Amino acid sequence: MADKKTTDVAAFYDAEASDYHRMYQRENFATLERYPANYFRLQILVRRLAALSARRVYEIGVGEGTPLVTMAKLGLDVAGCDISDSMVAAARRNFESSGLSKDAIQWGDVEDATTIAGQLSSGKFDGVIAAGVLPHIHNDRLMLETVKMCLRPGGVALIEFRNKLFSLFTLNRLTKEFVLDDLLQNVSPRIKATVEAELDKRYAIDLPKARSARSGAQLGYDEILSKFHNPFELQELFRSVGFVDVQTHWYHYHPAPPMLESTIGQEYRQAAIRLEHEASWRGMFLCSAGVIEARLPA
Ligand SMILES: C[S@@+](CC[C@H](N)C(=O)[O-])C[C@H]1O[C@@H](n2cnc3c(N)ncnc32)[C@H](O)[C@@H]1O
Repeated sequence: MADKKTTDVAAFYDAEASDYHRMYQRENFATLERYPANYFRLQILVRRLAALSARRVYEIGVGEGTPLVTMAKLGLDVAGCDISDSMVAAARRNFESSGLSKDAIQWGDVEDATTIAGQLSSGKFDGVIAAGVLPHIHNDRLMLETVKMCLRPGGVALIEFRNKLFSLFTLNRLTKEFVLDDLLQNVSPRIKATVEAELDKRYAIDLPKARSARSGAQLGYDEILSKFHNPFELQELFRSVGFVDVQTHWYHYHPAPPMLESTIGQEYRQAAIRLEHEASWRGMFLCSAGVIEARLPA
């Protein structure tokens, strides 16, 4: 039986299903209300799967299906699942209109392996991808176990996460939380209180504002389970469940802390887009998201 947090995640994405494809329309990049981060994520996934010569790919959390349809056009054999009924329906329509079998898309919850096992009847996959899913997962280890279940020996996982280290660049409430809860975890309450008082004076503690429900929806992104991950801890978790060759690809760059976007104006987005694929250590701090690539031993 799904708990409330899980049904809230499904309900949130049910309400997103009709509009989600706009994230992938290049012609909208300058005008989209939200930065087209998903598009840059898709570029990473496609490039890596092609480089790794993957043939069969499984996606956890397919959304409305654009990423998988794009991969099918590359000649990949694709299948996937989602926890939102509306996303499953949208992805199936998307598959049918692209000449693909809608049966490749099924309802499934990555935290319940039994709901996904049926899609392995033709064998395990060369690649498993999950984009925008890990933030909503209660038990990360359990998700990685399901990913392993779907992968053949030597297969590759590409799993997206929201980057907690980006908090050091935002100069707001997230920075304060990262410094006090993560960096100073083992420091005495007295010292932490002194640091907290200083951070309250220097940083924009009233930001970021929680993202509440947009019109027509009941829940906002910050009202459902939506976690950040520390890339160092996440890489460790992948290794601890048996993955090897673990590395991170960065995307969703910021040329300045997000609170300065309205001051800087249109140039902010143009500068961000220019930074995408910069692929250096800077991504660890300038990017709000990354993709972990990890392989199972052959
Ligand atoms: C941010 S969207 C991204 C969709 C798609 N991967 C893309 O990149 O366009 C995340 C999707 O993951 C799904 N999801 C969330 N939790 C899930 C879970 N436990 N199992 C399977 N899918 C899940 C959501 O319903 C949603 O459609």
